[in-house]
Amino acid sequence: MRTTDPTIINFKEKFDLTGKVIVISGACGLIGRAFCEAVAQFGGHVVAADIELAKPAEFAEQLQGRNNIKCLGIEVEVENKNSVLALKERVIAEFGRIDGLVTGHQNKSHLIFEPFENVSEENWDKVVEVNLKGTFLLCQILGSFMAEKGSGSIVNIPSTYSVVAPNQNLYKGTKMGCPAAYSASKGGVDALSQYLSSYWAAKGVRVNMITPHGVWNNHEDAFEKNFSNFSPMQRMSYNHEVAPALIYLLSDAASYVTGNNMLVEGGWTAW
Ligand SMILES: NC(=O)c1ccc[n+]([C@@H]2O[C@H](COP(=O)([O-])OP(=O)(O)OC[C@H]3O[C@@H](n4cnc5c(N)ncnc54)[C@H](O)[C@@H]3O)[C@@H](O)[C@H]2O)c1
Repeated sequence: MRTTDPTIINFKEKFDLTGKVIVISGACGLIGRAFCEAVAQFGGHVVAADIELAKPAEFAEQLQGRNNIKCLGIEVEVENKNSVLALKERVIAEFGRIDGLVTGHQNKSHLIFEPFENVSEENWDKVVEVNLKGTFLLCQILGSFMAEKGSGSIVNIPSTYSVVAPNQNLYKGTKMGCPAAYSASKGGVDALSQYLSSYWAAKGVRVNMITPHGVWNNHEDAFEKNFSNFSPMQRMSYNHEVAPALIYLLSDAASYVTGNNMLVEGGWTAW
């Protein structure tokens, strides 16, 4: 609205997602579940997209029941073009529109603890395929649809480890680690998002990122203790602390925000 008078603006309404159709990949995961719940609570129709094993249809049915809003669960393998095309067709058939895309899937592969010196090509390829190519296909197929219609919001999820290197001391005395392929694939997600933010800016599609960090999921004590020592906030985060950033970026409240990487990382990279 072309005005300098804020008194005529309903700021609360700007965050409302009523009637918007939001496709979320990795919907049944730790952060994905919080994304879905938050979007549904703000009135959005959630399309919960995840692999067969995650049972997205069951999840969407429960989400719909809890929030009394039409939701849909669709099985997808994000690295497979035909699977992503089928996802788009199904969403259009059911809702006739797409207003937002959130790419919350990830693969760190079962070989996550392989030392860098021994990483196999197979391991590398799988991580890059799901994390980077999967994000590319979702953006290309669903994002192009939104660009053609002239509006939409994409939120991709890179990682702290595409912003800074992992502090290897974090993993001392734990069974955890962070593979290089993960960092590299997430760096690609970051660059792709930047690229698309200018590419689609004039077409009304905003492209932003959320970078979560250290989201608590019953981690072993040693890891949580190490994490607290290195974190300015001296604690891990929770999935429900990540989701509010998504509401902002998907909604009209962020109408002038694109190319942004919102760090929800408790100041991890601030010092
Ligand atoms: N958890 C964290 O602390 C953290 C930190 C930084 C970034 N991230 C990023 O946030 C996002 C969500 O993380 P999370 O902790 O919820 O992960 P998660 O492992 O709990 O969930 C990932 C989801 O992706 C789905 N998935 C895996 N392969 C897929 C495929 N081929 N096609 C479609 N779906 C697939 C899984 O079934 C799962 O539901 C990821 O992109 C992750 O890299 C997480």
